[in-house]
Amino acid sequence: MRLDGKVAVVTAASKGLGKGIAKRFAQEGAKLVIASRSEEAIQAAAEEIRSLTGTDVTALTVDVSKLEDIQKLIETVQTVHGTVDILVNNAGGPPAGTFLDFDDEAWQKAFDLNLMSVVRVTRGLLPLMMKKQAGRIINITSSGVKQPVPNLILSNSIRAAVNGLTKTLSQELAPYGILVNNLAPGRIDTDRVRELDRITADKAGITMEQAKENWTKQIPAGRYGTVEEFANAALFLASDESSYITGQIYVVDGGMVKGY
Ligand SMILES: NC(=O)c1ccc[n+]([C@@H]2O[C@H](COP(=O)([O-])OP(=O)(O)OC[C@H]3O[C@@H](n4cnc5c(N)ncnc54)[C@H](OP(=O)(O)O)[C@@H]3O)[C@@H](O)[C@H]2O)c1
Repeated sequence: MRLDGKVAVVTAASKGLGKGIAKRFAQEGAKLVIASRSEEAIQAAAEEIRSLTGTDVTALTVDVSKLEDIQKLIETVQTVHGTVDILVNNAGGPPAGTFLDFDDEAWQKAFDLNLMSVVRVTRGLLPLMMKKQAGRIINITSSGVKQPVPNLILSNSIRAAVNGLTKTLSQELAPYGILVNNLAPGRIDTDRVRELDRITADKAGITMEQAKENWTKQIPAGRYGTVEEFANAALFLASDESSYITGQIYVVDGGMVKGY
């Protein structure tokens, strides 16, 4: 039990990567606070994790792009546990598209969803970590921070800012025993990636299977990753085994990104 007794907060955890990480942490003994926008979906995820692991799961409805919702999350963590050991900052992905597809409002929404959510949740929970002089912050970004993904200009741009935030925070927080890293998925088989494949297929006039096949050709491992494989990387960053690692970008992509 590598996270025995630890308290972990995972946002955007009703399905996909967030839920996979929450489940993996629970299997290793962590108590959870999980959140997403859909009450029904987040309660169902909580129930699934409880029945699988018997762990203590608090589930709440939070839109991470909204400050007032984040305040509710922070208050709940303070009231229920009074502490936090691990924070996974996850959110939905911004819409697909190219430069001329987006106006100021779309950029602002992506900024709130994928950068300000990380800033606000981290700021709210940091005092609890500083108090105990320990903590792990894991920000879920994208392989696009290493090699921009075509047709994802909002994601490619905003997540670069999360890199800057992570690196700077890692420098500021290491003296407090708090480690901050980014976990960047390539093509992990979730609804988000299936939806992106559908958009690519529609745009190119090909089938979804062909779109997936085209992506798979770019992955030396020859396949998309599984949520479980991704969650194992998050577990490593959350565990004592990564105690000397901070300010890094971990790309989980089966070798897809070709640069160093
Ligand atoms: N899968 C990949 O290979 C991949 C690759 C690159 C980047 N990413 C990024 O990784 C993140 C997770 O992706 P995924 O593949 O797990 O997506 P997913 O399967 O579509 O799941 C998205 C999760 O985010 C929640 N969510 C969406 N908007 C939210 C909001 N405003 N506030 C709170 N929760 C919200 C959703 O729940 P509700 O609907 O209940 O809110 C759901 O639980 C996304 O940012 C995605 O762009 C994923």
